[in-house]
Amino acid sequence: MKPIKIAENIYWVGAIDWDIRDFHGYSTNRGTTYNAYLIMDEKITLIDTVKSSHKADLIARISEIVDPKKIDYIVVNHVEMDHSGALPDMIELIQPEKIICSTMGQKALVQHFHREDWPYEIATPGKDISLGAKTLSFLETRMLHWPDSMFTYVKEDKILFSSDAFGMHLGTSERFDDQVDPAILLDELTKYYANILTLYSPLVKKLIAKIQEIGLEIKMIAPDHGVVWRSNPMMAIEAYDRWSRNEGKGNALIIYDTMWHSTEKMAKEVANGLQDEGISVKLFNLRYNHRSDVMKEVLDASAIILGCSTLNNGLLPRMAGFLMYMRGLRPTNKIGAAFGSYGWSGEAVKLLNEAMTEMKFDLVDEQGIKVKYVPETTDLANCVELGRKVGQALKEKK
Ligand code: FEO
Repeated sequence: MKPIKIAENIYWVGAIDWDIRDFHGYSTNRGTTYNAYLIMDEKITLIDTVKSSHKADLIARISEIVDPKKIDYIVVNHVEMDHSGALPDMIELIQPEKIICSTMGQKALVQHFHREDWPYEIATPGKDISLGAKTLSFLETRMLHWPDSMFTYVKEDKILFSSDAFGMHLGTSERFDDQVDPAILLDELTKYYANILTLYSPLVKKLIAKIQEIGLEIKMIAPDHGVVWRSNPMMAIEAYDRWSRNEGKGNALIIYDTMWHSTEKMAKEVANGLQDEGISVKLFNLRYNHRSDVMKEVLDASAIILGCSTLNNGLLPRMAGFLMYMRGLRPTNKIGAAFGSYGWSGEAVKLLNEAMTEMKFDLVDEQGIKVKYVPETTDLANCVELGRKVGQALKEKK
């Protein structure tokens, strides 16, 4: 198993997970990678490890370069198990002089592995650690993605080891951005941000400002998932900058679930109203679309229109699950509207509107549209009108 050289004396020694299709509820249709990096210097340093299931790949790749027992330092940029699962066994094997992590990282490592006796060294921003020819500096990046997260920067090579940030779930034999179709990179980068980082957008905004303020020169970004950005790191930074501002692209999404096609008919008429206003719209039936693929679209959308039939005085389960997921990710700056069919009580539309109000969406119609059983011509015309209203609100907002 070959390591991949990413710079002089720096190697990718991680693992490719071709099989994973679910990452805590996020569909990973193209698999992923757990990236770890080895710096060969007077103090040989391993940056991050891999999921426990892939430990053998990590050891095999390191062993192509050096006996793992010769590693001096292990840097833990992030404690989540996809990067630290193999850590206890690697520590046992390596017996490192230092385990370099943030203050919160030390706490989280103890809470995960219950080893107070490991040789922790706290990485302090502004306090560099020399490896010999290369120097490590650190940036605290709390909540990107966990409280313990930090970035490690190799000053001489201008490489930013960014942990989850700027990463993507993409399993490929290619290791660099210039070896993969840019459309796939953007698609997976978007999906990753939408499903992992949307709720931390204010922190992403601050981080980008900080990088600019300290004038951090970035030649390469080496995240813990997906490709290493060696040719176009600005593509990732500019995308994060854009998403952190929650601007939206002026388009609308209609996200719905339907019991006997009535809500579906309504969805299509709402779409017609939006198109009448010249608004770009996409429809997502939750029966056929995974919540994490829909969230990828929510990230850039300016209007979210939710439709659901009433079931047992509530929502259909797929919509209930989607709402729970979307609320957790806290998308902001959206126009909202709701519609749905019902048989006798009809709570679904009210519940959708309450959820969107809680998310601070601007509702164009506080009641929404409820239709008993099957929509007739006037009901469908009202749905077209709802679409037009959303379209007009979008145009006014521009
Ligand atoms: Fe890739 Fe937050 O773990």
